[in-house]
Amino acid sequence: MKKVLYTLLLLLPLTAGASGGGIELESADIDLSDSASLERGAKHYVTYCLGCHSAKHIRYKRIALDLKLDEGEILKNVAPLGAGIYDQMHSAMNGHDAEKWFGTTPPDLSLIARSRGADWLYSYLKGFYSEPGKPTGVNNAIFKDVAMPNVFWQLQGTQTAVTKIVDGQEVITDLKLVEAGQLSPEEFDKLVNDLVNFLVYVGEPVQLERQQMGKYVLFFILMFIALAYLLKKEYWKDVH
Ligand code: HEC
Repeated sequence: MKKVLYTLLLLLPLTAGASGGGIELESADIDLSDSASLERGAKHYVTYCLGCHSAKHIRYKRIALDLKLDEGEILKNVAPLGAGIYDQMHSAMNGHDAEKWFGTTPPDLSLIARSRGADWLYSYLKGFYSEPGKPTGVNNAIFKDVAMPNVFWQLQGTQTAVTKIVDGQEVITDLKLVEAGQLSPEEFDKLVNDLVNFLVYVGEPVQLERQQMGKYVLFFILMFIALAYLLKKEYWKDVH
């Protein structure tokens, strides 16, 4: 046991070092009870991401059920034209084209919030900065040399990297907006946050149900304690 503890202690500085140096992750504001945010997020996903990334683990039907939306509404407002209510969120792009264009296939994003975390996603989507030498014209402060273009360049505007030299290596310390986009920085943050909120929901749709269920379970436990207490009083009242 001691050995395990010592090993863990030894590893501590390593994990601390891994997070130091570069740019810090920003916190996403995740609220799965905010159905309006989730609906906006779903819409943004279809508009800006579905062209390249599928989210095969979720169907439009399930989104409609969970967000308490009308099926017609979800097909009209969220799903791409021609999609059916029982369809999964399929991307129109095929792997062969993707290989040709990006040198890699854009991954399915159903579980991305669980593997990367909400803050990572939020920072990644806000982390594109101009680097003219790149095939896409951008690089990313969180995912260096990523093959994905900045799909939000018109909305967000153009960012450049602020760097400094640490131990002879150039590290990014901040990103600066040098050319405004169609949205203000606050509006853009909200759009990205809604999108990440949706991806967190897609990672585990049953979360919504579970949180609802939790309230009933707690209520039941409290009622049960009260009943058990009354029963105990009844049983013991003559034993004295
Ligand atoms: C034009 C195609 C395209 C669009 C549109 C697009 N992406 Fe990507 N994305 C890619 C490619 C290609 C990669 C793989 C990059 C790599 O591995 O270098 C990628 C990678 C990613 C990753 C990293 C996955 C990992 O390896 O952990 C995330 C997260 C991501 N995209 C999210 C999004 C989101 C969210 C949207 C919508 C706002 C979006 N992408 C829109 C092409 C696209």
